[in-house]
Amino acid sequence: MALANVTHRFDGGFSWARSSSGLLECRSHALRDADGGVWLVDPFDGTGLDEELEALGGDVVGVIVLLDRHIRDSVALARRYGARLLAPPGRWRRGHPRPQDAEALRAEGIDACPFTFTPIIQREGQWLEWSLWWPERAVLVVPEAVGTPDYYRSRAREPLAVHPVLRVAGPPHGLVAPGTEPQLLLVGHGDAVEADVAGTIELAIGEARRELPSFLLAAPRHAVRFVRAAVGVGRASC
Ligand SMILES: [Fe+2]
Repeated sequence: MALANVTHRFDGGFSWARSSSGLLECRSHALRDADGGVWLVDPFDGTGLDEELEALGGDVVGVIVLLDRHIRDSVALARRYGARLLAPPGRWRRGHPRPQDAEALRAEGIDACPFTFTPIIQREGQWLEWSLWWPERAVLVVPEAVGTPDYYRSRAREPLAVHPVLRVAGPPHGLVAPGTEPQLLLVGHGDAVEADVAGTIELAIGEARRELPSFLLAAPRHAVRFVRAAVGVGRASC
């Protein structure tokens, strides 16, 4: 059975949406490395996931959580596949306990892991977010700080936008590491960006504050979406 919610296929992997609610446009990703190891990023379980991963080839060797409130189905999937579990170090947001047995993401590199991790937001007890850089494929993954859903964007219809909270609290910087040229940006909410990734990120960061008034005009409509998501799936944050 095919996974009904695959949203994007790319060289070396695919992205999929949460099956029970499309309101927040949550996305998970599977990345297959050169050695045949498959890594799941902020994964939701879903009908047909096993079959999709089998079709991708290789074995699931790791489950990676990039944001402290994106645990999703990571623990259960790591157990099911006998895979290592990697997650942000530090004190997680209240109500989002950190798995005891998770390895800590580290900027210095992780043994037998083909990715580089960079802390984006480090607010203990509030927001711990890391990005993933996959040099082999020039893929950048950002789980929350930027995204493409309507509820991230102002009325100017930015192609990519900074998270609503970060528009006010302060947009992130350094998403694109010096000397890297991402060809694909995968986000935890919304669709991927494939054209001019660095320029699109730079535009989103640069416009975050300038577009704030336009965003606030649309905020009541976005609030309705969050309420509906909270009622429908039991939690507004995913
Ligand atoms: Fe999220």
